[in-house]
Amino acid sequence: MTAQLIDGKAFAAHLRTQLAQDVQRLVQEHKVTPCVSFVLLGDDPASHYYIQSKAKTCAEVGIISRDFKLPASTSREELLHLLTTLNNDPTVHGILVQLPLPAHLNEREVINAISPQKDVDGFHPFNAGKLATGEDAPIACTPLGSLMLIHHALGTNLEGKHAVVIGRSNIVGKPMAQLLIAQSCTVTLCHSRTRDIASIVAQGDIVVAAVGRPELVKASWIKEGACVIDVGINRVQLPDGSSRLVGDVAFEEVRQKAGWITPVPGGVGPMTIACLMRNTVAAAYEACGILLNR
Ligand code: GUN
Repeated sequence: MTAQLIDGKAFAAHLRTQLAQDVQRLVQEHKVTPCVSFVLLGDDPASHYYIQSKAKTCAEVGIISRDFKLPASTSREELLHLLTTLNNDPTVHGILVQLPLPAHLNEREVINAISPQKDVDGFHPFNAGKLATGEDAPIACTPLGSLMLIHHALGTNLEGKHAVVIGRSNIVGKPMAQLLIAQSCTVTLCHSRTRDIASIVAQGDIVVAAVGRPELVKASWIKEGACVIDVGINRVQLPDGSSRLVGDVAFEEVRQKAGWITPVPGGVGPMTIACLMRNTVAAAYEACGILLNR
């Protein structure tokens, strides 16, 4: 079997078009323009690049974005004060503090200081708890985008399917498992200490790989016809000195066995930013007392 490619780039473009229409409707009918604030500390080039991409996508969808680029030496008190100001500003619907933070700041404390209603990353424990108990809440963007791609490939009824999630991070693995439980899948979560991981992954009708280990998942691990979602983005050096991006899945061999597979790049990556837009637009709708079904 040769897998069908799941085109995350095209799906994300479609979602952005729909969100741009949702924004127009909100502006026309409620005179409200969605606005997100990006807070970035320090000068890590990758983080600056991510914030630039997010801001560019906001402009495309019609969302206002405000950047707060602060020195790495920003104190805990200064950062918490900024977050309080943004929490209290009714024109701001979303707040995103780019991670990782400089070492002197406590990530948990900072995430907890963001108003759960404005937590467009879906990282606040209040929202993680709501997801776990089946209540409507902002959902972390990468797992949300991954679920949309699974629905796109397999249809929206995932009842009874065995989903194997590899990775237990708060940002991807755990919320992904919760989302799949809510879809009535049987969910197994594997991680770096899991014994005989290959035989467990081989039971998966759906496999989501989110471990950050280049090409860890081999064809021999995959059930024939499975839907494979590769969350990994790893830069590897080639013998000639150049580099390329690879996922957590050995793409070329796994595509010979899977039924559906996401490429890297062009799979989950574009969905993460599109879902950040989705969460921001949904937060602005919610501020107007409307539930956005998207
Ligand atoms: N750093 C890398 N990915 C993310 C993300 O999705 N959100 C935030 N806030 N920081 C990140």
